[in-house]
Amino acid sequence: MKTIVITGASSGIGLATGEYLSKKGYKVYGLSRSVGNSELINYLPCDVTSKEEVLNAFKMIKEDIFAVINNAGVGIGGPVEHTATEDIEKIINVNIIGVVNVCQVALPYLRKTKGRIINIGSVAGDMAIPFQAFYSLTKAGISIFSEALNIETRPFGVRVITILPGDTKTSFTKNRTKDYPEDPIYGRRAKMSLEKMEKDEEKGMSPIKVSKVIHKVLKKKKPPIRVTVGFSYKFLVFLKRFVSFRFLNYVLLKMYGGGNE
Ligand SMILES: NC(=O)c1ccc[n+]([C@@H]2O[C@H](COP(=O)([O-])OP(=O)(O)OC[C@H]3O[C@@H](n4cnc5c(N)ncnc54)[C@H](OP(=O)(O)O)[C@@H]3O)[C@@H](O)[C@H]2O)c1
Repeated sequence: MKTIVITGASSGIGLATGEYLSKKGYKVYGLSRSVGNSELINYLPCDVTSKEEVLNAFKMIKEDIFAVINNAGVGIGGPVEHTATEDIEKIINVNIIGVVNVCQVALPYLRKTKGRIINIGSVAGDMAIPFQAFYSLTKAGISIFSEALNIETRPFGVRVITILPGDTKTSFTKNRTKDYPEDPIYGRRAKMSLEKMEKDEEKGMSPIKVSKVIHKVLKKKKPPIRVTVGFSYKFLVFLKRFVSFRFLNYVLLKMYGGGNE
């Protein structure tokens, strides 16, 4: 039985994936601040922003670890100009430092097993989303970080893969920090933009779709470097190669710019 560790396993994509992989025969350890309610996942309470907590959680795992899935993540909505510094620090701490902490702690285990790191990025890391600039920034960072780490660790047989889900129906929408409600300059546009995004998320795919892609990637001897989840998102990412940045920026302005005023 192969052992995997997944962060953010208390809800959404992490919970669905932990349960799916457990049913497929993996032993699953879930790291999150709160303990989830799945009997299929062995929860180890852990805030990924603390290297010490990550180290302690890994010490509790006695089996060889085949794969680590960095899934824990948070979002912010709001204009760049008025986003509170502590909110920017929080998203960078969870979405970037958290991933780095887990990779650093996990690598000695994964070098031993020639294991896998799967980092959950986002299509928002490939397309710049206004009023979610800090989210796009962290997810773009995860893609490039994963590619560099893949090259560094390849000689040891370790592979690092980024999964890019599109809109997925989870608690992510309600958990997003919003930094715009009182903003007299950007508030109306930020609200329109976020409302559109939230509607898309609420109509989004089931997290199990992401879980199935993760499972497929885990089974591959030679896994891909990046996988986008969802046909329409795959198509968008493909189209991006053929259009100019100016055109893409214009399309994103029309979609998520919240009007031109
Ligand atoms: N939903 C979407 O449309 C979508 C699209 C693309 C990518 N993604 C990405 O998918 C991942 C999972 O998101 P989701 O949609 O499943 O959202 P979610 O339902 O809000 O789940 C987020 C998970 O992250 C955990 N988490 C947050 N901060 C943490 C911390 N400091 N330490 C440990 N765990 C922490 C949460 O658990 P605790 O609160 O218990 O710690 C929770 O289990 C994220 O990386 C997100 O960016 C989501």
